[in-house]
Amino acid sequence: MSVETAKIRVQELHEQLNRYNYEYYVLDNPSIPDAEYDQLLKELIDLETQFPELRKPDSPSQRVGGQALEGFQKVEHKTAMLSLGNAFNEQDLRDFDRRVRQAVGEGIAYVCELKIDGLAVSLRYENGYFVQGATRGDGQIGEDITENLKTIRSIPLRLAEPLSIEVRGEAYMPKKSFEKLNEIKAEQGEVPFANPRNAAAGSLRQLDPKIAASRNLDLFLYAIADAGNTGIQSHSEGLDFLDKLGFKTNANRQKCATIDEVLQYVESWGEKRLDLPYEIDGIVIKVDMFDQQEALGTTAKSPRWAIAYKFPAEEVITRLLGIELNVGRTGVVTPTALLEPVQVAGTTVKRASLHNEDLIREKDIHIGDYVVIKKAGDIIPEVVNVIVDRRNGEEEEFHMPTHCPECESELVRLEEEVALRCINPSCPAQIREGLIHFVSRNAMNIDGLGEKVITQLFRENLVHDVADLYRLTKEQVVQLERMGEKSADNLIQAIEASKGNSLEKLLFGLGIRHVGAKAAKTLAQYFGTMSELKEATYDELVAINEIGDKMADAVVTYFDQPEVLKLLEELASFSVNMTYKGPKQVKVEDIDSYFAGKTIVLTGKLEQLSRNEAKAQIEQLGGKVTGSVSKKTDLVIAGEEAGSKLTKAQELGIEVWDENRMLQELNK
Ligand code: IVH
Repeated sequence: MSVETAKIRVQELHEQLNRYNYEYYVLDNPSIPDAEYDQLLKELIDLETQFPELRKPDSPSQRVGGQALEGFQKVEHKTAMLSLGNAFNEQDLRDFDRRVRQAVGEGIAYVCELKIDGLAVSLRYENGYFVQGATRGDGQIGEDITENLKTIRSIPLRLAEPLSIEVRGEAYMPKKSFEKLNEIKAEQGEVPFANPRNAAAGSLRQLDPKIAASRNLDLFLYAIADAGNTGIQSHSEGLDFLDKLGFKTNANRQKCATIDEVLQYVESWGEKRLDLPYEIDGIVIKVDMFDQQEALGTTAKSPRWAIAYKFPAEEVITRLLGIELNVGRTGVVTPTALLEPVQVAGTTVKRASLHNEDLIREKDIHIGDYVVIKKAGDIIPEVVNVIVDRRNGEEEEFHMPTHCPECESELVRLEEEVALRCINPSCPAQIREGLIHFVSRNAMNIDGLGEKVITQLFRENLVHDVADLYRLTKEQVVQLERMGEKSADNLIQAIEASKGNSLEKLLFGLGIRHVGAKAAKTLAQYFGTMSELKEATYDELVAINEIGDKMADAVVTYFDQPEVLKLLEELASFSVNMTYKGPKQVKVEDIDSYFAGKTIVLTGKLEQLSRNEAKAQIEQLGGKVTGSVSKKTDLVIAGEEAGSKLTKAQELGIEVWDENRMLQELNK
């Protein structure tokens, strides 16, 4: 076939496939059998393989997922992605209505919509082409997940009109796909997702778009990001316009003229929601007219013209069969309720953390009790209360043990803590949990080494500390239960590959008290190598932004232990990398700036820079910007209309600069 002929055919296939896609995924009304669609798609992919120059970014072939990415780029949202205030009952909704009417008068119409339980995404189109899709992130900056979003078939890669527009909606995983996915995960011995929302979020955060493509995600659009220049005057008109452009919106929306109508809508979905093919966690109520929305405005986090009514968490009754004790990585002993399995909010619940003995006393929990269970935030199961009336006298009171259930050393209750701890550093449970932490994703990220394998390795006496992982041979690993040749090879390779990790992963993996993944990164960036960090003093550590005194203390104490130094030497002897691989942060004492090492407070209105910009620039020059003036403050920068902070600085005799003086110093 010549390129010219191929080009014509590719064009035809685009049009056909796009139409069938739309009929199937947006209208839910397919006009051809699946097999025929697959046939056409295959023909297109074959042609694009033969003539790569004909593969366009909006080709329906992009839906199957292209090349895996190294990481996600950050995306700055031009219009912030806000969240919504919550209402939990009728009164909250009536209060909302009163506030709205007080602000804009009586001529109000609301639009009620289902609150889809997924994750918010933003889609950008240029001249009708889908060019970028992003997660919400912190509302200002999200992550570029364009390739993953392209695999969602209801998202048009090209619009019915050549518009440049940004739209927002909720990506979700239908209930059926969720169940199927978890079945597969269970078969493969993997940890299932707790709910469809986590599954959707997890799928969209995969670097390999082929995984997202296999997850059957979907999306409902619920807003135009900046409807200001489209000529559209209301939210309901906007949704109709989205329909026209080829997007999928949720048809269960309803315009309501009064709060009583809103309440009826909310009420009607309380039951009906269980029959929907996707999960919703509430109802969103929005003021319809844009001019009224504008008059109402927004707070820092959410608009005043909308509110989310949250359905009450589902509560069920089951029996508490026993209480199991687990020893965590830091030696804390946690009681866990073992429950008669029961369905709550879409998943089977068998266990629930009881946290500590105080909580068990407070709720008067006995073994054998009937208990009410709910999921906090619809995710983590929790015992709400005991049904005392259903006791038959055979229930048993529970007492925390005095000795560690794993190593039998005496448990202690540290000052100001409710938790009981095992403080034996060679407690096997702590070591095992420490190993599990070491290999976890944010730490050394060793694929194939989950909780089960670690437990086996530990039981078989193959590993005692993290250095032993690097001694493992394929011959040893292949003997483990359910471990084939191939998996053993992969595992050894993954362990080998982890030697190359950048320093922060190792630091986090070592499990130094108070040092989370973020702090580990800060330390790695700052010191660059393990040997530098090892020598760091308390004073050097607290001088760093983000490192507080507790953490500084913990780091110094950690590297004071001879066992730790020995472990590090062993790791080094296996060539485990101990340097930071990203861009390094310069040390305060090496910075030639007035700000280096100083504690600075910004107050009042700045004219040239925003507060955040000024803060970022000062920090880059080694200064630490804090929120309140105290004796520790070295310098206060006061803009226009500075108030009490300036007064306090003057009282304490702290140096005060104006904005110009600061700019002079910044620009040096
Ligand atoms: S409107 C400025 N409509 O709920 C308001 N949100 O906290 C933008 N959500 O982050 C949100 N269904 O992820 C809106 N029909 C719907 C929604 C919806 C689900 C999510 C969205 C948002 C969160 C609210």
